[in-house]
Amino acid sequence: MSDDQRLSRRELLKMSLAMGGVLLSGPINPLFAQSAGMVPTSEQVMGPFYPVIKPIDQDADLTVIQGKPGKARGQVIYLVGRVKNLKGRPLPGTLVEIWQANSFGRYTHPNDRNPASLDPNFEGYGVSSTDGEGRFRFKTIKPAPYPVSEGWIRPPHIHFKVSTGSSLLVTQMYFAGEPLNEKDRIFKTAEDKESLITKLAPPTKDLEPGSLVAAWDIVLL
Ligand SMILES: [Fe+2]
Repeated sequence: MSDDQRLSRRELLKMSLAMGGVLLSGPINPLFAQSAGMVPTSEQVMGPFYPVIKPIDQDADLTVIQGKPGKARGQVIYLVGRVKNLKGRPLPGTLVEIWQANSFGRYTHPNDRNPASLDPNFEGYGVSSTDGEGRFRFKTIKPAPYPVSEGWIRPPHIHFKVSTGSSLLVTQMYFAGEPLNEKDRIFKTAEDKESLITKLAPPTKDLEPGSLVAAWDIVLL
């Protein structure tokens, strides 16, 4: 199934939700989803900085680059969550890709004109497959805000592309309590803003001291 077809299905379900679930029935019946209390994670634009060339060490740790002794600058965060469907069932084997700016607000991308520093030890892109219970975990750093145009600074956010055989979600995750969130021209377009927010919490004992945990579940249509 092509990405276009998958998006069409998403659009159709959205229409169906708006009409009280009369268009679709079967395994993704939105009436069932609503009764299960599952709210689909909102879409956001892909943006211009999806990697042109993906790094050689494609993994879930963005704070180190294979063969380099250094570590990425910035506040380390563990980004953990589960991917579920509208019925609340976990989705094992889902491909989760993330990409983001570094702790200075710069992407490792040739088209990023922001003069902020590059971080030679920051990967900028990570990929992982969910486990048998639909869980994913990334180690990364909290990205900095960055300017887009006069009067518009994007709040800290992490881009996501989440794909299964039948579903595709492109979105962005934001951090609770950031004053730039509500002013952001992209965040403002979200159908359900709450579905895009994570709240940072202290680390559990098994994680790096001084790190923070960003828990964020994803619900696919
Ligand atoms: Fe971005």
